[in-house]
Amino acid sequence: MNLVDKRKNTFALTTPLYYVNDLPHIGSAYTTMAADVVARYQRLVGNTVLLITGTDEHGQKIQRSAEGKGESPQEFCDRMSAGFGSLWEFLDIKYDRFIRTTDSRHHGIVKEFFQRVQEKGDIYLGQQKGWYCVSCEEFKEERELLEGNLCPIHTNKKAEWRDEENYFFRLSKYQNELEQLYKSQPDFIQPLSRRNEVIKFVEQGLQDFSISRVNVDWGFPVPGNDKHTLYVWFDALLGYITALLDADVEPTLENALEKWWPINLHLIGKDILRFHAVYWPAMLMSAGLPLPKSVFGHGFLTKDGHKMGKTLGNTLDPFALRERYDADAIRYYFLKEIEFGRDGDFNEIRFIKVLNADLANDLGNLLNRTLNMVKKYCGGKMPQVTSQYISIENPLKVIGLELPDKIKLAYEALAFNQACETILSLVRASNKFIDEQAPWSLYKQGQQETVEKVLYAVLESVRLAAYWLSPIIPNISTDIYQQLGFDINFNESLPSLNAPVDTHGIWGLLTSEQTLGKAKPIFKRIEPPESN
Ligand code: MSP
Repeated sequence: MNLVDKRKNTFALTTPLYYVNDLPHIGSAYTTMAADVVARYQRLVGNTVLLITGTDEHGQKIQRSAEGKGESPQEFCDRMSAGFGSLWEFLDIKYDRFIRTTDSRHHGIVKEFFQRVQEKGDIYLGQQKGWYCVSCEEFKEERELLEGNLCPIHTNKKAEWRDEENYFFRLSKYQNELEQLYKSQPDFIQPLSRRNEVIKFVEQGLQDFSISRVNVDWGFPVPGNDKHTLYVWFDALLGYITALLDADVEPTLENALEKWWPINLHLIGKDILRFHAVYWPAMLMSAGLPLPKSVFGHGFLTKDGHKMGKTLGNTLDPFALRERYDADAIRYYFLKEIEFGRDGDFNEIRFIKVLNADLANDLGNLLNRTLNMVKKYCGGKMPQVTSQYISIENPLKVIGLELPDKIKLAYEALAFNQACETILSLVRASNKFIDEQAPWSLYKQGQQETVEKVLYAVLESVRLAAYWLSPIIPNISTDIYQQLGFDINFNESLPSLNAPVDTHGIWGLLTSEQTLGKAKPIFKRIEPPESN
């Protein structure tokens, strides 16, 4: 699936705008890391990228959390929102826009959008009766609730009964158009299991949903009736549009939509799929705007096989995790060990095993032992061969030449685990190749040319692996590249990142002219914690 806007070579993607009722949790970090990997991949292959993230700051849940802390909602939001920015820095996430829904410019966009939908005749006043989960900020069907009216997602929170006058959005009117959309654009909802889930839900018949609240102050007033506050989700989804405004332009829909709309990819968790794959496109249809290209709903994370939750006392704090481990290690584990789209688990013992096996042993040792052999057998100079002298039957060349296409497909399908596995297959083949070729014996036998060819093939394979792993482990890739003598930092993006894909992305770039850097371990083995 290639979602790039081919006319402009641009790619705009979003993470959800996170609620600020609490510090960011590992679920928010997971989506944001994945989004950063997609953005870095797209930049690496030469596209111009806009990665949007931000915080969702209105609504009853935030209002109550602020009250609970004895702060004004705005002060509370300012403090909490900053926490997200710092976590993204700790995890080396390079976002382009950070939108806060309390931004005054957002208000202008929301008003204009509301008016468009109203003029279309899609907003009306009605009576809303039902069970509301404040933590989800969503009405629930009675049959969905657990015993004691507990929310099925926030199992320690009771849904609250509401019977009030609300404004409604005519979702039902868009039933056919939505069904048509899912049919004509099969990639609109991904992965397939989520697409099926949405299609089934829509088939049951869509009901209009309420887009205002009474008795909630923290939010934008409904244009024309300030007794009502706009429903937090109606306002939040529009944050994706406000985020597109350049800094110095007037906050109008026209200005916001000019350059980057439609969004190429919304990355979200499966629990908020309905909002993004049903409500959001219907709202856009009503406003007469083009639709995003796709919505990808990833799975949920568990810890040691159990659902995470404060009441269960088993949350995984991303700040604490980052204090113990490098950003690359955390990014690698979540993207390599979990199939994106499915639920996945975090277990610290497994975490340590995977990192030691893949990054310390397979990749790190390979580079280190090869550079040491280069020192011993080639006087520390790059082997005196170029790729054209390596036989086309050389197993590393065979794998290396096929690799880029496979990796691109994997990244484009957001199959990060497959991308990693494909790259690791080259790394593992390189280790095997060295063991089989035994350059130390070849050297003793005086077969200098063969030694140099073997070492060349391995160094080139490590380089290629580092290049294609750079969206996931940018710091380790930079270290590898620097040891191979390149002055390249994968934390920079094009054009300052001087590593074009049509030369660096394929096997055979290294030449005998290259001056190698100093060898040093790229990933320190992690010792398992004492108690384990
Ligand atoms: N504010 C809304 C999104 C509005 S977008 C216009 C929201 N925020 S949230 O902070 O509650 O959730 C953000 C994301 O975290 C969601 O994509 C959700 O799926 C994800 N996760 C929450 N718990 C999670 C796990 N245990 N595992 C993986 N992701 C999970 O919803």
